[in-house]
Amino acid sequence: MKIFQLSFQKIKHCLTALCVIALTALTPSSAALANTIVIYGATGNIGSKIVAEALDRGHKVIGVSRTPESFKINNPRFSAVKGDVSNLQSMLEVIKGADAVILSVRGSGPNNYPEESLDYVASKVFIQAARQLGKDAPRVIQLGGGSTLYTKGVLGLDARPSTEGTAQHGLVWGHWLALQNYRATTAVKWTVVCPSGGYDAEGPRTGKYRQGWDETLVSENGPSKGISHRDMAVAVIDEIENPKAIKRRMTVGY
Ligand SMILES: NC(=O)c1ccc[n+]([C@@H]2O[C@H](COP(=O)([O-])OP(=O)(O)OC[C@H]3O[C@@H](n4cnc5c(N)ncnc54)[C@H](OP(=O)(O)O)[C@@H]3O)[C@@H](O)[C@H]2O)c1
Repeated sequence: MKIFQLSFQKIKHCLTALCVIALTALTPSSAALANTIVIYGATGNIGSKIVAEALDRGHKVIGVSRTPESFKINNPRFSAVKGDVSNLQSMLEVIKGADAVILSVRGSGPNNYPEESLDYVASKVFIQAARQLGKDAPRVIQLGGGSTLYTKGVLGLDARPSTEGTAQHGLVWGHWLALQNYRATTAVKWTVVCPSGGYDAEGPRTGKYRQGWDETLVSENGPSKGISHRDMAVAVIDEIENPKAIKRRMTVGY
């Protein structure tokens, strides 16, 4: 009888342990909950890496392009839609119901003026859309420019002057205008993420990076040497899963 009681106790313990293991495996942590992520620039250099990272981590992705037929992604959690980031009506239709929107777009206007840059235009259109959607508006993460960061308090744009009317001037100051646009809003859930030290386009996905705010990251070996497109994608999806930078700019680098 004692032997029977002992084995019964053991079986009971084993069953309890199995239940705990099964429940732990079936209960998703908040970081693992799937989001619906709209990605503008999903065909681009960095945007395409963000699409891959988001899909690998189980999220649902809506890739936006002016030519959605160009996507060659075969994944049941991916859908392609036609959209124009500079068009309010189009954006309202595309982003409705999403948890997060990524803006990873590039384009300049006929005069290369900063206020014509697609980054600035996209920020304006998103803010308008978010105001219309009100409490249902998704958060936005926009890719920014590293020269809008400070180094020992000096703005990168001031340290490396560029000439008005050139593509580079329009691009970098367009990023600055986009950042100021977001900073002037209080209701919109925005994040601008800038690389510290530029990009290594072909670099690997290491899954490791350092994160800071408005100052270029510096280590004991000097300023950050940049970040790969793939690790920028990791940082963007990390920020969606574990928000740390809502309503502020952040920087990432090695
Ligand atoms: N690559 C770098 O080294 C680097 C360095 C610093 C900062 N950044 C910033 O990172 C962001 C992404 O750069 P990237 O190099 O990945 O860009 P990219 O490869 O040139 O891609 C640009 C994307 O913009 C999309 N696009 C252009 N006009 C659009 C419109 N009217 N509506 C919707 N989408 C539009 C394009 O999509 P479709 O053609 O499919 O419509 C394309 O996917 C930019 O803000 C860029 O300034 C990049």
